[in-house]
Amino acid sequence: MNKINSKGLLTGAIIALYVLCNVSFTKAQDVIIPIETKENALVLQVTPDKLLNMVYFGSKLSDKNEYAALAKLYQFGGTIGTYNNAYTTAGTRNLMEPAIAVTHADGNKSLELKYVNHTVTKINDDVSLLSISLKDSVYDFEVTLNYQTYYNEDVTEQWSVIKHHEKKDVVLNKYASANLCIHANSYWLKHYHGDWAKEMRPEEEQLNHGLKTLDSKLGSRADLFQPPVFMVSLNKPATEDEGEVMYGNLEWSGNFRIDLEVDPANNLRLIAGINNFAADYNLKAGVEFATPKFVYTLTNKGKGEASRNLQTWARKYKIVDGNGSRLTLLNNWESTYFDFNEDKLAGLLKDTKKLGVDLFLLDDGWFGNKYPRNGDHAGLGDWQTNKAKLPNDIAFLTKEAKANDVKFGIWIEPEMVNPKSELYEKHPDWVVKQPQRPEIYMRNQLVLDLSNPKVQDFVFGVVDNLFVKNPDLAYIKWDCNSIIFNAYSAYEKNQSNFYTDYVLGLYKVLDRIRAKYPKVPLMLCSGGGGRVDYGALKYFTEYWPSDNTEPIERIFIQWEYSYFYPAIASSNHVTDWGKQPIKFRVDVAMMGKLGFDIVIGKLKPAELAFCQGAVNTYKQFSEEIWHGDQYRLQDPRENDVASIMYVDPAKTTAIMFNYLVNNRYQAGTHEPLRLKGLNPDKTYTISEVNVFPGTRSTITEATYTGKFLMTIGINPDVSEHRASVLIAVKEN
Ligand code: DGJ
Repeated sequence: MNKINSKGLLTGAIIALYVLCNVSFTKAQDVIIPIETKENALVLQVTPDKLLNMVYFGSKLSDKNEYAALAKLYQFGGTIGTYNNAYTTAGTRNLMEPAIAVTHADGNKSLELKYVNHTVTKINDDVSLLSISLKDSVYDFEVTLNYQTYYNEDVTEQWSVIKHHEKKDVVLNKYASANLCIHANSYWLKHYHGDWAKEMRPEEEQLNHGLKTLDSKLGSRADLFQPPVFMVSLNKPATEDEGEVMYGNLEWSGNFRIDLEVDPANNLRLIAGINNFAADYNLKAGVEFATPKFVYTLTNKGKGEASRNLQTWARKYKIVDGNGSRLTLLNNWESTYFDFNEDKLAGLLKDTKKLGVDLFLLDDGWFGNKYPRNGDHAGLGDWQTNKAKLPNDIAFLTKEAKANDVKFGIWIEPEMVNPKSELYEKHPDWVVKQPQRPEIYMRNQLVLDLSNPKVQDFVFGVVDNLFVKNPDLAYIKWDCNSIIFNAYSAYEKNQSNFYTDYVLGLYKVLDRIRAKYPKVPLMLCSGGGGRVDYGALKYFTEYWPSDNTEPIERIFIQWEYSYFYPAIASSNHVTDWGKQPIKFRVDVAMMGKLGFDIVIGKLKPAELAFCQGAVNTYKQFSEEIWHGDQYRLQDPRENDVASIMYVDPAKTTAIMFNYLVNNRYQAGTHEPLRLKGLNPDKTYTISEVNVFPGTRSTITEATYTGKFLMTIGINPDVSEHRASVLIAVKEN
């Protein structure tokens, strides 16, 4: 059978159909290359002088021949030339923002790429790859543009492969993954800003003429201030269920740059790729440079549909084990911080069992001897068990876990080093720092130089040793708390390759880990959500959205992530942040992958009983939450009550989450909320679940048609007395 692997890459010889198209230009006419998915078409045009342009991105037409008419209908050029090149070069005819700019071996900076041929590879019934070869006519320099489509999901991944055969290195001054040209009357950009504990704060604005750039220059933990996700609504801001909207995400865990330029002819020119800031890339002759992928989806049915497309695609093709299950867990970070020993941990393992979750996750603080990790100022890099805290090593914990019939997982931060560590003493040249300047720290630590293969071996070894020594280890939380200051590598010959090679080095390590441990659950954490993107997520089963676990804040944070990432990947832990009661906190955490980080022993009996019951409820509805279709019903930014639901693919069961996010007088639900995604012809029984022991639900169990529930709806009766309400919807 034809397959693509979990990373969305071609595996082996699985090509079902491979068509090489050598376009011959007998007459002065354009050649049209349509790239179609279930609902959409992206149309490219090869002009008689062999320039490759993009002429359409929108709903697909029923007659492919009609695409030929499109190029003439819109204005793609002006006084200075064409604006709609499919991969805009610099130094020749194009004077708009380029997708690629180079300095040739002889110092010349001109590039003009002309169409050579294209191939279409059908990978399976859903996935096809279009590769277009472009070459410069003066220099031996070529680029292949790749468009990999996921037909049923309406998703495209786009990337370029750059190569040359010049006499010396060519310097890539800009090397984007994708260059799109979209035409609409107006463009509305929704993008995000943030900081520690303030992830995913949205802003939406109409794009005016000129350039707007979303970018990061932070190196590692690159999304701390801004993630590489955005959406653009065409003609008017899309709503949840209406409007044309495109979502984009650069699959890159380092510095990114997304240029959105409304050109003089009112097209939106979109260029997404690695940030070229301080990152001119020296490319050797004959070596292929593959840019990261830029993934996007377009729909004319609003934001909800765009999310479901991307979420389905991610579960099917990108995140590890996206269609599998996840482990509920108890984490000790906020209950112990660095202060624990074997006895305390043995108690927590018992609590894990008592709570009914699957795994105990030991967080930071378990390592370092010469420089014990008793705080965040020392020990990072020394991945030997701290003998004072754990005299019997990790084996003690895996054994205790087994005795309690739960699994065991552990925290690491293998890319980092404290100056107070044996690693730093032994290998100062492995550390990213300027040789002649004072060190600059974030959380008292520095970043290891992953461009160096020896460092890659070391980081791989941290993970590998843990698994080799502890075969029962069932989970890893991979943290990354520092950005890169003083970017300098003692290893790199060309310093400007460093930022890019750092991320490529990280991916090499993760590739090795996944080759040896293909399915083991790994959580992607970066001092919160400082590194959430599909470049990293193809190696991970889940991500940590934010250290901010105050549940009202989390509703907003998780809501915004949900536009781009599936719920199964969102690690949501119940903590003691904020003043909300335990029911509210647990209900919010149940919207994704449920975990706890509280002292179980401090819970009152009713609270403990509620948590245990909630873990069971969660297990009953995990199919809907993990693999179902998600429908956002009421936006917390526009309403007193946030409401979201998940429906299983067969539309037999759904769960609806409702939360009060405003404490003004009589805030709550006073009318029914319309459900979505059900089968109008089925009948469903609704009932409240996760009711706190000793309280009574105000929802009367009742049966309605799907039509009723989606036309009229139900009132979950959210009020200050019932601040979070979960409703189960089950087919009769
Ligand atoms: C930052 C993470 O976001 C936390 O969850 C915790 O693991 C700490 N690091 C540990 O140092």
